[in-house]
Amino acid sequence: MQLEIIPAILVKSREELLSRIALIQDHVNIIQLDIMDGEFVPNKTIGLESLHDLPNANYEFHWMVFHPEKWIEKTPGPHMHLVHVETINDFDKLIKTVKQAGGKLGLAINPETPVEKLMPYLSNIEEVLVMTVRPGFSGQTYLANMEEKIRKIRELKPDMNIEVDGGVCLQTIHGAYVAGANYLAAASAIFSGEVKTNIENLKKTATRGCQE
Ligand code: DX5
Repeated sequence: MQLEIIPAILVKSREELLSRIALIQDHVNIIQLDIMDGEFVPNKTIGLESLHDLPNANYEFHWMVFHPEKWIEKTPGPHMHLVHVETINDFDKLIKTVKQAGGKLGLAINPETPVEKLMPYLSNIEEVLVMTVRPGFSGQTYLANMEEKIRKIRELKPDMNIEVDGGVCLQTIHGAYVAGANYLAAASAIFSGEVKTNIENLKKTATRGCQE
């Protein structure tokens, strides 16, 4: 599976969004945009008003919102839409909305949600995002026991992209990779300091582990 280091952008203004995209655009293949509604999670980020005319890049939207369809239908383009399994009401409607918007569907799962909740949907989605923190804020501690979820999903879906998000850093990235995650998202470990070096170091450490 292709290994990707994915910067997660969690910001409150379009200005910050554009400056973060510009910082990392040339160094990665995929950019994650974190969208929070202040209801599904106790934090609010930029909303639809900030998402128009984005620079050309391969985006995945991590929808930490209730009623994701309402957001996705207003976000057209060939994007990956990562919707929380906890927010699904009508899966057929969700798939239809994503297709109409020209996007692809992946499902995200919170730490407290049992992995079994994903099972009915696994053959109809293109990616899984395993949260290794409770979504809402950057800079939290990685929950290593979520690696069991990653292992189970990898066993069932050897060819699916499995992403891990939350507390991913030089100390934790190898564990996530070994468990079976090939998409490794991070915010603080990328944006604190020099982004290009941080991305290179995360990539090396994912496969090799910490050398010190
Ligand atoms: C969690 C967000 C994550 C988070 C990652 O609420 O979905 O993307 O910002 O931040 P770090 O890498 O700092 O844990």
